[in-house]
Amino acid sequence: MDLEDQKRQVAEHAVQFIEPHLKAESIVGVGTGTTANYFIDALAAIKHKFDGAVSSSVASETRLKSHGIPVYDLNGVADVGFYVDGADESNHRLELIKGRGGALTREKIVASVAETFICIADASKLVDILGAFPLPVEVIPMARSAVARQLVALGGRPVYREGYVTDNGNVILDVHDFVIEDPCTMEARINNIVGVVTNGLFALRPADVLILGGPDAVTTRRAADAR
Ligand code: 5RP
Repeated sequence: MDLEDQKRQVAEHAVQFIEPHLKAESIVGVGTGTTANYFIDALAAIKHKFDGAVSSSVASETRLKSHGIPVYDLNGVADVGFYVDGADESNHRLELIKGRGGALTREKIVASVAETFICIADASKLVDILGAFPLPVEVIPMARSAVARQLVALGGRPVYREGYVTDNGNVILDVHDFVIEDPCTMEARINNIVGVVTNGLFALRPADVLILGGPDAVTTRRAADAR
C-alpha cells in the first residue's frame, strides 16, 4: 500500500472503530488534513447513525456539510465521544506534532473535550523522537518577532509561514531544529510565551488510540499500552 492508500485505509478503520459506539445523539469531533478528509468521506456512509459533527477547521466544516453531515458550534455541544484527526508525527507514547494544515488551535480545543482521541496516520508519521517535522506555533500577529526571538532562545529556528492566516486570524511560525525529548515540558514552555496562542505539540493531551497504516496492514495502538 502506498501512503495515499494507507491514509484511506486508516480512515476507514477509524469509522469501523467508532461505529459500534455511536448513538442517534452522538457528536463526532473531526480533524483537518488529507487523512481527515478520507475520514470525513468514509463517515458520510454512516451519517444516519449519529447526530452531527464539530469541526476543527473551516475546510473540514465545508467538506462535512457537502456530505450532508450537520456541523455544530462546540459551544452548543456537551459531549464529544470521539475526536478523529491526522498528525504530522507521533511517537510511541502517541504524543503528536500537528499543524501543518494550520488548524492546530481548533484541533487542540476539540481534542481537549473529546472522551477518546483517535489519531489516524500513514506509517511515515511514526517516529522515536518528535521534532524532525517543524513544530507549528500559532501566534498573535503583533507578537510574531518577539515570539520568534523566544523560540530561538529555546534552541529552535522559527520560519514565518508567509502569506498564511489561520482560521482564527493569526500567523504560524514553523520551528525547525527542535529535538523534543520531553514533549510535555516543551509544550507547556512554548505555550507560556506571551503572544503564543498554542503550539502543535499534543503531549499534555496525547492521542488515546493510534490507527497506523503500513505497507501490508493497519495496526491499532493504545497510549495506555505504551505507559
Ligand atoms: C492540520 C493537521 C493535520 O492533521 C496534519 O498536518 C496531518 O495532515 P495530513 O493528514 O494531510 O498528513 O494537524 O493542522
